[in-house]
Amino acid sequence: MKVLVVGGGGREHALCWKLKQSPLCTGLWCAPGNAGIADVATCVPLSAEDVPGLVRFARETGIDFVVVGPEQPLVLGLVDALRAAGIKAFGPTGAAAAIEGSKGFMKDLCARHGVPTAAYGRFTDPDAAKAFIRAQGAPIVVKTDGLAAGKGVIICQTVAEALAAIDSIMLDKQFGAAGAEVVVEEFLDGEEASFFALCDGNTAIPLGGAQDHKRAFDGDQGPNTGGMGTYSPAPVLTPELEARIMAETVLPTVRGMAAEGRPFTGILFAGIMVVPGPDGQPVPKLLEFNARFGDPECQVLMMRMKSDLLQALVAAADGQLDRIDLDWHADAALCVVMAADGYPGDYAKGTEIRGLDAARVIEDVTVFHAGTRRAEDGRVLANGGRVLGVTARARTIIDAQRQAYAAVDLIDWPEGFCRRDIGWRAIRRG
Ligand code: AMP
Ligand code: GLY
Repeated sequence: MKVLVVGGGGREHALCWKLKQSPLCTGLWCAPGNAGIADVATCVPLSAEDVPGLVRFARETGIDFVVVGPEQPLVLGLVDALRAAGIKAFGPTGAAAAIEGSKGFMKDLCARHGVPTAAYGRFTDPDAAKAFIRAQGAPIVVKTDGLAAGKGVIICQTVAEALAAIDSIMLDKQFGAAGAEVVVEEFLDGEEASFFALCDGNTAIPLGGAQDHKRAFDGDQGPNTGGMGTYSPAPVLTPELEARIMAETVLPTVRGMAAEGRPFTGILFAGIMVVPGPDGQPVPKLLEFNARFGDPECQVLMMRMKSDLLQALVAAADGQLDRIDLDWHADAALCVVMAADGYPGDYAKGTEIRGLDAARVIEDVTVFHAGTRRAEDGRVLANGGRVLGVTARARTIIDAQRQAYAAVDLIDWPEGFCRRDIGWRAIRRG
């Protein structure tokens, strides 16, 4: 099969790295890709959001199967456009991607199908949102309905902060059209984890859990980021909790979407808060759905997957997941993100990264590129905020952490930084 991956981050490098290992894969392209992806795929200079350009490229190149990484092209209807052109694609249609693209849609869907999630209200009128906030009290969470590049969620410790959030979203239009509607919801206090399922429109199979580190600095300090590191499995998600998430959250959602005429095919990423239940036992509650793999969660899942990814994704796109039985390494995987100084604020591009070949020699380490490009003279240059995902697989999380940081220490990039404590929650749990 000739395969095209859409996207150019660490998630897409991990997908390309894994797809390339499939005996079914006879050719691999990636749009737009990056310097690391160029080692395993042919990079195509097309934006991930250029729907007509991607469809034209796929048709002219005779692509048999397209795997879409990021949410934007999914919400824009790339999978619909590819299918209309007769090209098989993995990922939800635009209608099904609303599960990530509209928080109001997602909350109402959960309510209709009994999925356990935070209590909420949906508002297009700022005064009604404010009345709801005053009635509920704080802490409380204000969210834009639409995609806001991961910044549309405001956790408010006081009522005054929440009222100010409504003003900046709905009156000052800080997030543009994404904030024309808001969701106001109950604050859930617990430990957060990511859970992934592969869905074929009718059913789903688990891919397991991971934990991300959202804050920029050690000790979970500093501003929120796209994710500074991950590990899998996530010990907080015990087998019992994973079974509950499949039964109470994933399967009712997939069946509900099918019944409502928006079958969900693709990766369902459930952001879960594990909260103490009435009897003190942990209870999984849904924070949000995403319609794609997480980044950098994908990197650790791909390192742990033994099975043929391409075969599994094609089966999902064909509605035939019942034929698939996935096999995993029992090992743990851990990914340390190296970011450009200043990220998630302003940062420089074009600084040189050295030592990538040296880092590769550490056992069971793969350096996934997130934001890099190759200069004409062959040097690898930073080209984004999150730049590398140094990922190790080992018997335990502690070993994977040691190997990942051994590789990080061989990378010579003075203008970059990383957290030194990725994995601390899992290691503390023992
Ligand atoms: P979301 O984009 O919905 O994932 O929200 C971004 C982050 O905000 C999540 O990863 C959580 O850490 C936090 N968050 C979202 N909703 C809630 C909630 N209801 N209670 C507590 N934290 C939340
Ligand atoms: N790492 C979180 C996300 O991809 O949304």
